[in-house]
Amino acid sequence: MEILHTISELRSHLDRERADGKTIGFAPTMGALHHGHESLMVAASTMCNVGVASIFVNPLQFAPDEDLDSYPRMLDEDAAKAEAAGIEYLFVPSVREMYPEENWTTVSLRVVTEPWEGSSRPTHFAGVATVVSKLFNIVGPCTAYFGQKDYQQLAMLRRMTTDLNFPVDVKGMPTVREEDGLAMSSRNLRLTPEHREQAPTVQRALQAGVTAIEGGERDPAAVEAIVRAIIATAPLAAEPDYIAVVDAASLRTPEILSGEIRLLTAVYFGDVRLIDNVGVVAP
Ligand code: PAF
Repeated sequence: MEILHTISELRSHLDRERADGKTIGFAPTMGALHHGHESLMVAASTMCNVGVASIFVNPLQFAPDEDLDSYPRMLDEDAAKAEAAGIEYLFVPSVREMYPEENWTTVSLRVVTEPWEGSSRPTHFAGVATVVSKLFNIVGPCTAYFGQKDYQQLAMLRRMTTDLNFPVDVKGMPTVREEDGLAMSSRNLRLTPEHREQAPTVQRALQAGVTAIEGGERDPAAVEAIVRAIIATAPLAAEPDYIAVVDAASLRTPEILSGEIRLLTAVYFGDVRLIDNVGVVAP
């Protein structure tokens, strides 16, 4: 595996690979890699001829009160994991390499970014869309792998890729879970043992919503009430920030559930905010 720090180096390697007829799989990350990221890297390197990953803690997607400075940076460990996952080129640019001048251009999307995570983090998604646009332009034609765990991010990036005609095939990969169903996240390490024990209730609650839809329930408010009631059985769970029962592409709440539906929630356990989501088709 080669670690590359400049855009020009990465571009010249990937241009050569494409000239040799190779397909490129790309897994963008911010590092602090866990099994969820590793599954994206394995997909990039096994489903395409050449696996590329990036590690870049993108300042644009952090609000001033968020944890940019304390965000974990552990390049040696991450590089070992990327190599074990089959990555051939690991792109690790500096902030100066990505943003050599004050950024005057921002990519932002309407509708899909406005509710849910967007209402508590109003500048976050434009920061993600902007850096991913830059990464897509740097990497070039490829298949890009993102986790379904950050479902709203995935829905936004799918729409952005269509709207802006990026020559990129965006694939959403299944959320990697602990044995008890808790979605993997670097934040899980910050849960107390008591919070950790109750945290899988979130996944169980979402699954109960899926079961209701599969059983014929078509009223989003009724499904939301089922999910809310089950989360409330975990005494250490705060009132959810939101429970969304929405169309999987627009993330809007329909009057009657039909087609691809996504159930999303964000719940605090102590000071740790957990997000999770599941999908279901309402025929
Ligand atoms: O999901 C992430 O890790 C980040 O938001 C991403 C897509 C790498 C952009 O910085």
